[in-house]
Amino acid sequence: MDSQPSYEELVARRADLWAPCLAQDWPNIPVERAEGIYLYGPDGRRYLDFLSGFGACNVGHNHPRVVEAAREQMERIVHAPLGVIAPETTLRLAWELGKVTPGNIDMFFFGNSGAEAVEGAIKLARYVTGRRGIVAFLGSFHGRTMGAASVTSSKVKYRNGHGPFLPDVYFARFPYPYRSSAPDPEGCVAEALEDIERLFEYVIAPEDVAAFLLEPVQGEGGYVIPPREWLLALRRIADEHGILLIFDEVQTGFGRTGDWFAAQTFGVEPDILCLAKGIANGFPLGATAARRDLMGRWGPASHGTTFGGNPISCAAALAVLEVIREESLLENAREQGAYMLDVLRDLQARSPIVGDVRGVGLMVAVEFVKPGTDKEPNPEAVQRILQRALENGLLMYPCGHWTQTIRLIPPLTVTREQVEEGLEIFTRAVLAESR
Ligand SMILES: Cc1ncc(COP(=O)(O)O)c(C=O)c1O
Repeated sequence: MDSQPSYEELVARRADLWAPCLAQDWPNIPVERAEGIYLYGPDGRRYLDFLSGFGACNVGHNHPRVVEAAREQMERIVHAPLGVIAPETTLRLAWELGKVTPGNIDMFFFGNSGAEAVEGAIKLARYVTGRRGIVAFLGSFHGRTMGAASVTSSKVKYRNGHGPFLPDVYFARFPYPYRSSAPDPEGCVAEALEDIERLFEYVIAPEDVAAFLLEPVQGEGGYVIPPREWLLALRRIADEHGILLIFDEVQTGFGRTGDWFAAQTFGVEPDILCLAKGIANGFPLGATAARRDLMGRWGPASHGTTFGGNPISCAAALAVLEVIREESLLENAREQGAYMLDVLRDLQARSPIVGDVRGVGLMVAVEFVKPGTDKEPNPEAVQRILQRALENGLLMYPCGHWTQTIRLIPPLTVTREQVEEGLEIFTRAVLAESR
């Protein structure tokens, strides 16, 4: 009879069991349970999680309020396909979300993931404008499904071999202050806007463009924070030509930037919003959200879902909203994020491989370069720093086109002591690499 492999044996054999695109990611650590900012391995190892499940667990792993809300809902009904059934938690979530989403965005299509939220946004924008063009931005990441991959360009490996992609997707430059050839933010914005002008002049007329689709802060693309003026300019150009502005806030949303949404941090209102990750603290849920004059025109059955907006995830999401409010997590994100930037800028002064330190709220990143070069990306140092930090109990993950940047995204519940503990391990790993 076959004997059952242990958990550790299964992890060791993952390459036989999972597709290489999953099995060969880093670091594939075994984890038995998680609580707050901590992950616990079956061998008793404890990790401080500065990745928060790719930014999904904003209120910390297994927050008791969230788990309890989901458990209670699970005992009532697990599956309630929207349209056939009208589950209370999914309705109540739309009611509550409308209070925190930017501007007049208060109608929702619920799905299961970020990529689905993006698919929905592209379909909605094309449907209500009757236009075909989508202008996305270089360095973007919007997900792995075909529509979402079509507007993704943070790394060519996400696209390579999968085409042809959606037609009528065009890419323009996303302003990247650290890597711009312009000497100041104004120049960086001008450079990016010129790209749009060029597109309109040579490639697609603005009246054929349904939407600008962007992450207000690029996530996988390297935690690139655009100057606010660029976002304002996009809003202005969109209004001028009847183009919709779609913010993919899958990574920036639900408190990560120190506000409910980055749209509020920057004071720029999108027409359509893509939500997922932090929405339900790890339960699968996503949403395409829009103003009712747009969403209200998406006719019956023109889009749909079997699992989307499931009542358990929505119960969890309702609890997330309460926890963010009651534990003052937006304030904490701003406070701990500002402190992290201070500490990291000190580190920058001590290490020639730290090229840039940037952040907004608790969306913090450090970009690494080769010393003595003109900002040549340093992915080798990044990999060694990540590995060293992991060995010392700190989990982080890279981002950026060249994998040259490390993001530090603890849950919004992180305490000052935990920030200090994490930054101490990070600092030691960076200084060891800087010698
Ligand atoms: C900005 C952004 N959009 C979309 C996605 C895709 O989300 P999912 O993996 O839930 O499909 C991600 C995932 O990292 C993301 O960061």
